[in-house]
Amino acid sequence: MKFTTAFTTFLTCAFATPALFASATPVAEHELVKRVVYSPHITSPTHRTIWQSGQSVNITWDTSDAPPPDQITNRYGKVEIRWDHTATPFLLASGFDILNGWVQVGVPLVETRYDYSIVLYGDGNNASADFEIDGIPSS
Ligand SMILES: *[C@@H]1O[C@H](CO)[C@@H](O)[C@H](O)[C@H]1NC(C)=O
Ligand SMILES: *[C@@H]1O[C@H](CO)[C@@H](O)[C@H](O)[C@H]1NC(C)=O
Repeated sequence: MKFTTAFTTFLTCAFATPALFASATPVAEHELVKRVVYSPHITSPTHRTIWQSGQSVNITWDTSDAPPPDQITNRYGKVEIRWDHTATPFLLASGFDILNGWVQVGVPLVETRYDYSIVLYGDGNNASADFEIDGIPSS
């Protein structure tokens, strides 16, 4: 009798375990929602912008046409600065919410040029116009 009880308990556990694992795997309901790629339009800097090295500035973008949050594939934004359209970009900020519409960054210590641009990545990406940074005089 005692043996039977113990054996029954063992069997119950043995069979219950796979079921527990199965129910622990969440059904990916959200994958059924239509996903969209959101590439926001940068509103600052513009071609008239002049930044100074060392300054704190805001990069801003239009969120008025943003899709509902649950339809955006990747809400974590990243901004890079590039110049000359070919040079390796430099990371300015990452991990912010793309739906905020702005992120404050420090202007890096760079040489004065007129062809800097910002690239904003959400799940899509978009670039600003070229703008000026007054930086370290080139020697
Ligand atoms: C990128 O931004 C420009 C304006 O700077 C806008 O006209 C264009 O629609 C944007 N691209 C995408 C894919 O949203
Ligand atoms: C950036 O924008 C935020 C929100 O509007 C504001 O609190 C902050 O002072 C701004 N930073 C700069 C450098 O303008």
